Amino acid sequence: MKREALKIGVFDSGLGGLTVLQAISSTIKGAKLFYIADTKNAPYGNKTSQQILQYVLDITDYFIENHQIDALVVACNTATSASIATLRERYPNLMIVGTEPAIKPAIEQTQTAKVGVLATPATLRGDKYQSLVERLSGIKEVELFEQACPGLVEHIENRTLESKESRALLTAWLLPMKRAKVDTIVLGCTHYPLASSAIKEIMSESVTLLDSGMAIANRLFTLLKERGHKNSGNLEINLYTTGKIDKDFVDTLVGKPIEPITL
Ligand code: DGL
Repeated sequence: MKREALKIGVFDSGLGGLTVLQAISSTIKGAKLFYIADTKNAPYGNKTSQQILQYVLDITDYFIENHQIDALVVACNTATSASIATLRERYPNLMIVGTEPAIKPAIEQTQTAKVGVLATPATLRGDKYQSLVERLSGIKEVELFEQACPGLVEHIENRTLESKESRALLTAWLLPMKRAKVDTIVLGCTHYPLASSAIKEIMSESVTLLDSGMAIANRLFTLLKERGHKNSGNLEINLYTTGKIDKDFVDTLVGKPIEPITL
């Protein structure tokens, strides 16, 4: 008997999770993927953890009721911070992969022992981030330059990264890192890889930018394999949005034309 393809739900507040989807689609084959861009509630980064948890639970219930998902990828650092413990408790049969800032590889590879971390305000003030940093502090002595970037997600979603206002924000946020000769920057929000060229222009080409996309895809691959996933055939991608979305940007990020369905 032919096995049914495993079903994967992936979500973010908007387009950022598509940077994770790119890593997933370069790794996972022969599955059905459902992506939700929760643009109605974006940005998550300036909401309370209670609000964010509610968005996450609503999306997860939607995935389970309507698409009977086997795996859930929280393609958002902010949502992971606010919800991962509750998700694991409430849905013990679901394979769950969260997103956390790539601090460990950054600490391991920095030569100047100075690392920048860019993330949303909610991620940086969350307990999860604080305990991650504490847990990794024994690896080696590294100075972390943490910077919350309120407004950056909106500039990315609205494609106004080239505007004077956005450049001025980024330049001010990056200045302390540039002065301190930070050689590695952790992109602690899944939207921020979409601002990579602007960040490199301001910092210099030689800075290393680290995101979490491939780590998430590899973890998902391991979990799916444990459930007998064969990883051959097409990856079917379905995209849903709760509000406005830039379809051209979606097509570019997914790598093919895709018709978003509004929920
Ligand atoms: N892409 C998200 C993250 O990784 C959320 C950004 C937001 O909506 O503020 O944190």
